[in-house]
Amino acid sequence: MSTRPGGPSDTTKSASVSGVRAIVLVGFMGAGKSSVGAALSRHLGWPFEDLDERIQAREQRSIEEIFRQSGEVVFRQLEHAALCSLVGELGASAKVVALGGGAFAQANNASLLQEAGWSTIFLDAPVEELFRRCQQQPLERPLRGDMKEFQRLYEDRRRCYLKAGSRIETAGKDVEEVAVEAINRLGLR
Ligand code: S3P
Repeated sequence: MSTRPGGPSDTTKSASVSGVRAIVLVGFMGAGKSSVGAALSRHLGWPFEDLDERIQAREQRSIEEIFRQSGEVVFRQLEHAALCSLVGELGASAKVVALGGGAFAQANNASLLQEAGWSTIFLDAPVEELFRRCQQQPLERPLRGDMKEFQRLYEDRRRCYLKAGSRIETAGKDVEEVAVEAINRLGLR
């Protein structure tokens, strides 16, 4: 997905009018969750939060260090604790949230979001495109692996992502287009 600048929109509905309290972007590595989240935040004027950033701030170490020093099991515990704190903090104001690629594939996180009544959107793309996007990004991703491992993990998780409230195909679209599609899909315009 490519990016182009987009300004705030004055035609979107407020959270209280729409009934949408939070938008949670889910999907595999390379899905564009953080960039679409930032674009949605600009359009809606809602704050944006990336769950991985919250984990890093709480831990005072990077995702890569957490995986290397403590392993994936501990990372998943930290991820769940960070999501619980985020859900617990949401007051009257709405928010846009991007999850890490594995978060929504954990049943405890998916049920937490469902109980909170948050709107989940699965950003989908063919696995070859996701892998290519990850290769182009400088970000260190402990679970990316080679194409074969990447594809196996993607296939394992896809059925979980499909449980999100809606699915947006992102292939061939830029970040702004996907953000506008999400706004329309949730009836926020
Ligand atoms: C992970 C994806 C990463 C990050 C961590 C684990 C995964 O987030 O949460 O490395 O399990 O797929 P992105 O999807 O933003 O890369």
